[in-house]
Amino acid sequence: MAHDITIIRPEMRAEQVKLRGEGWTPGRRAAVKKGLHTLHTLEIMATNIYKCQITSKSCALNRQLTAAMCNEMTHAQDFQTKLYEHGFKPSKLRWSYWMVGYVFGLGSRMLGSRRILKTGVWVETKAVHHYAQLLADIEWDEDTRAIVEKDQADEYGHIEHWKHLLEHPEEIC
Ligand SMILES: [Fe+2]
Ligand SMILES: [Fe+2]
Repeated sequence: MAHDITIIRPEMRAEQVKLRGEGWTPGRRAAVKKGLHTLHTLEIMATNIYKCQITSKSCALNRQLTAAMCNEMTHAQDFQTKLYEHGFKPSKLRWSYWMVGYVFGLGSRMLGSRRILKTGVWVETKAVHHYAQLLADIEWDEDTRAIVEKDQADEYGHIEHWKHLLEHPEEIC
């Protein structure tokens, strides 16, 4: 399925929030809970990486990092909403992912724009593999699967953006 990754915050209507998972086996519920915890915490980390990489300079890299941050915030909201729809709570350990994102983001910013881009490619490549595994292993409901697929497509888009800027350093700040 093709996804429009230029839409970084898709529209969501109130009636799309639903109570999910009723009548599912405990095994299916447990797998979905674990998957949503993984995705939610990863997206918290990704949001913080980009947020901490942005400098005050007016340039193409900062514009794209800001768009990516907004997109990751949407992803975190997607999975937080899905957790509560299924009757789950976010992971108690999510603060540690916030911290990892902060360290990666700030650390790469201090090492310059190429390190920022390489960190982005590295993290997003790990993310798309995680997404692929969770899509293959878990019996998602249709709506949640569609969200996971769209968000994975967004991560592929991020990899392409950062690779493009690595190959076109003249477009970096
Ligand atoms: Fe994301
Ligand atoms: Fe991403």
